[in-house]
Order: sequence, then C-alpha cells, then structure tokens
Amino acid sequence: MAVIAGDGIGPEVIEQAVQTIELAAQIFHIDLAFTRFDWGADKYIATGVSLPPGALEMLSRDFDAILSGAFGDPRVPDNKHAADILLGIRSGLDLYINLRPVKLIDDRLCPLRDKGARDVDFVVFRENTEGLYCFVGGNFKKGSPDEIAIQEEINTRRGVERIIVAAFEYARSHSRRRVTMTDKSNVLTYGHDLWQRVFKEVAGRYPEVQADHLYVDVLTMWMVLDPARFDVIVANNLFGDIITDLGAGLQGGLGMAASGNIHPGKVSLFEPVHGSAPQFAGKDIANPIAAILTGAMMLDYLGYTDASVAIEAAVAKSVSLCETTSDVGGTLKTSQAGASIRHHLKLAYV
Ligand code: NAD
Ligand code: IPM
Ligand code: MN
Repeated sequence: MAVIAGDGIGPEVIEQAVQTIELAAQIFHIDLAFTRFDWGADKYIATGVSLPPGALEMLSRDFDAILSGAFGDPRVPDNKHAADILLGIRSGLDLYINLRPVKLIDDRLCPLRDKGARDVDFVVFRENTEGLYCFVGGNFKKGSPDEIAIQEEINTRRGVERIIVAAFEYARSHSRRRVTMTDKSNVLTYGHDLWQRVFKEVAGRYPEVQADHLYVDVLTMWMVLDPARFDVIVANNLFGDIITDLGAGLQGGLGMAASGNIHPGKVSLFEPVHGSAPQFAGKDIANPIAAILTGAMMLDYLGYTDASVAIEAAVAKSVSLCETTSDVGGTLKTSQAGASIRHHLKLAYV
C-alpha cells in the first residue's frame, strides 16, 4: 500500500489509520506492507516537485491501493501542489467514482433534533474526473477593470454515464431502493440536460431501483430535514464536493467522514473527506476516525471485508464510550483516540 500522509493534520491522522490497519492485518492474517511517500507542501516548497515524474505509472504498477491524508498549506496559496497530487492522481488514474458514505454511527453525534443513526445512512457517488475540475478556461485583460474570467464545466456522455451506472450498480448490489440524481438542469440547460437524458436512459435498465431527481438547492434542504429519504445520491464533481461536507455534518463533522476514489478493478485512492485543517496541525487534536474509517473502506475494497467490519465496530465502540477527540465530544488526543479504537479491536478479537 502506498501512503501519502500529506500536509497539516494528514500525517497525524494517517499514522493512526496505518497503526489500526496493521493491527487488523495481524488479527485477520492479511499480508500487507506500506511504502511512504513524502509528497506534499514541504517537498513542493523545498524542491518545486509536487507529483514526481513517473509517479502515476509507479503507483498503478507497484501498489494495490493508496492511502492519503490531505493536501493544502497556507504557504501555497494557489493550492498548486494539491491540484497536482490529489486531482492529478484522481484524473491520472481515472478514478471516476468518489464514493462518500454518509453514515451516522452514533445517535449522540446527530445534529438534527429527533433524528438518529437509522435516519442518516446513504452514499454519495461523486463524479471525480470532469465537471468544473478540468481547469479549462482563462482570463482576458487580467487585473484590469475590464477583466473577464471564464471557467468551463466539462460533461462528457461517457463520464456522466459511467458514474450514473456505478450508482445504480451499487444500489442493486447493496439492496438500496432508490438513486437520486442531483443537478441544476433548470439553469445549466446544456451540461445538466445531458445528465437528465443519461439518467433517464440508465434508470430504464434498472427497473428494480427507484429513480429520483432533485435540483441541488432543494436537495440540501432535504438532506437536513429528512435524510432518511436518501439511499444513493449521484452528483457531478462540484456538487458532490459540497454536499458531502454537508453530509459530514450529519455524521458529526468532518472528523468522521471517509471516502474512496475508485475505478473498479484498478489501483484506487482512499482519503478522508476532510482537508489539512492547518490550524490543528502538530497539536495531536485532530479526530483520526475519518482516516481510520477510510482505511476500513480501503480494506473492504481490497476484499478484506471482515477486517473492515471489525474496524468499523471498534470505532463505534470508542464513540459510544466517548473515547474520542473533542470535536465529537471526548477529551482524548488524536493518538489516544486511535489507541482506544485499537484497544476495542483487540478486545473483540485477541
Ligand atoms: P478542512 O476540512 O481542512 O477543515 C475544516 C474544518 O473542519 C476544520 O476547521 C475543523 O473544524 C474541521 N475538521 C476537519 N478535519 C477534522 C478532523 N480530522 N478532526 C476534527 N475536526 C476536523 O477544510 P478547510 O479548512 O476548508 O481547508 C484547509 C485546507 O485543506 C485547504 O488548503 C483546502 O484546500 C485543503 N483541503 C484538502 C482536502 C484533501 O486533500 N482531500 C480536502 C479538503 C480541503
Ligand atoms: C475534497 C477537497 C478537494 C476537492 C480539494 C482540496 C481540491 O475539497 O477532496 O473534497 O475539491 O475535491
Ligand atoms: Mn471537499
């Protein structure tokens, strides 16, 4: 496994994820090894190298999966290295599915009155290779009062179809009743009309799954008022980014939200939804659960479902006992919260 801890709180939370995966590997007799890469802001500032030449070929040739922390550093205001590394791997390895589960693991963490774990349990399929993430556009008369800035959204037939198909396939194989496609086709009458047409066509191939549509503005309202109405949401790249931070809020915060950047059958990249939270860096206070659950997702993707389920159960136990960092109500440091999860993993299996 390749490990790119990255910037800010990345190294601290990834260390907890690695230790937890190692323990699960021991318990479940999984033969795994980690190779660490120091790609991130420090290296970029010192050497000018963000994603080293040949990195994508090396990752897809020599590894089974990639675990990463987060990228973003106030010393790199344009976020160039994060775009090169994170978006570079997503698009370079064609990881077209950004799978982001929104699952509340403890009623205590629900910010909504009278709602709980049985209400907040859906998955978001975020398109991960196109949309507004293509850096197509430019400036005209930059810096002048007449400046024009154009940023184009790319929607390809192939790209839209494969993410919608992935959402329906997931619904079918995980016994989810409904796929909700979200867009802004009432305004984006070319790009999102393509989403509308492809969605209807693909939905016709899955009669057992209910096809549902909400404009993205009203979708955010229903995420808050009635999250139980969602099973699977499929969204474009930017809307998927935004609604999954809202989804993280429903799970108790960004410290709880896991994600995978996936191309089925290929080397895929697993990273928490959260960023580098620079103000927490080096303080041993960031919540490691998002990173640890991300590690569990990676093990599940690699076929080690027992190990993945065991880690999730240990996390739920720690959370139920409030053996967590302060963002989710506990008093522990990052390293102690990770140790608590490993303690419960050992209690259950050793
Ligand atoms: P962020 O996710 O880093 O943090 C936002 C807030 O969420 C924090 O202030 C904190 O209150 C909370 N939070 C996040 N992670 C947490 C954790 N593990 N434990 C407890 N609380 C946590 O988002 P931001 O502040 O908007 O961005 C900071 C930097 O991270 C920026 O440079 C941004 O571009 C980058 N970023 C990177 C990624 C990534 O690499 N995948 C994702 C999002 C943001
Ligand atoms: C995420 C992040 C990234 C994104 C940024 C850091 C480029 O917000 O992974 O959710 O927008 O995809
Ligand atoms: Mn984001």
